Amino acid sequence: MNRRSVKVFAPATVANLGSGFDVLGIALETPGDYVLAHRQPQPGLSFSVRSNNSDLPSNVNENVAAHVAQLMLNEFKPSFGIRMTLQKKMPIGSGLGSSAASSVASVVAVNALLVRPLKKKELLRFAVEGERKASGSPHADNVAPSLLGGACLVRSYEPLDVISIPVKNTLVWVVVHPHVVVRTEEARDLLPKAVSLQTAIRQWGNISGLTVGLASGNIELIGKCLEDAIAEPVRGNLIPGFRDVKQAALDAGAFGCSISGSGPSMFAVTSSSTTAKRIGAAMVKTFLRVANVKCDVFVSRTNMEGARIVRMQRG
Ligand code: HSE
Repeated sequence: MNRRSVKVFAPATVANLGSGFDVLGIALETPGDYVLAHRQPQPGLSFSVRSNNSDLPSNVNENVAAHVAQLMLNEFKPSFGIRMTLQKKMPIGSGLGSSAASSVASVVAVNALLVRPLKKKELLRFAVEGERKASGSPHADNVAPSLLGGACLVRSYEPLDVISIPVKNTLVWVVVHPHVVVRTEEARDLLPKAVSLQTAIRQWGNISGLTVGLASGNIELIGKCLEDAIAEPVRGNLIPGFRDVKQAALDAGAFGCSISGSGPSMFAVTSSSTTAKRIGAAMVKTFLRVANVKCDVFVSRTNMEGARIVRMQRG
């Protein structure tokens, strides 16, 4: 029997993980976005958004969730149409992979309604188009972990090749979202167009170490390898109080701390929930003291499953 309606959750993500610009990311348990999709008799897409944020595009031609859904409908041409609602729970311009979570929830929802659904990994190529629409760049380091869960390595973009790193679920991530907005497109424009061989050597040493650390659960190694010689030095300036907040996280017991995605959120990694709460409190206090900025804190283990169907009706 076909599926009549689905509700899908897609999680927030920490992209880059410091040194892995555009190639590494992990999925969080919370926050995340929801998409509800219902089959309707007439082909086509109708779309609406439920959100407290009036800046969010609700137009079918502008919102990333609608965009990727439309791409799938154009390609698979099902005999039915879809009525879709995005329940936008995540802040935009936060560095938590907000556009990625919306795109991923959308493609998983459309897929679930198809007569012959694709494998999860085959949905990646649609989800990255949401990122292209949101920021002009089809980076996959948010959409891949949001879709597949765990830690993901984007080994190649042409062709797109994503590898799931068999991460140990012992890590606790602290993500602090200061209430300022950084647009990914602008944060990307700041990046150097070329790096020296010396910088590249430092960076690929750290990325390789990070991959080994994630796969073996070596948190000291992970912490050390978050060091980013390319994006953090320029993007840190977009985050008020960045250097003090990072130091506060390390002083409170974090193994490492860096920018989440393109910022302004910052993340730290540790191995216990108690230490994670202490780190989060220290980061929030420092943001307020140094920059007078309020924050939200998310403490989460790695989400090993990624996007999931939370409700489904057949018929
Ligand atoms: N890798 C992307 C960037 C992630 O840093 O621009 C954006 O969330």
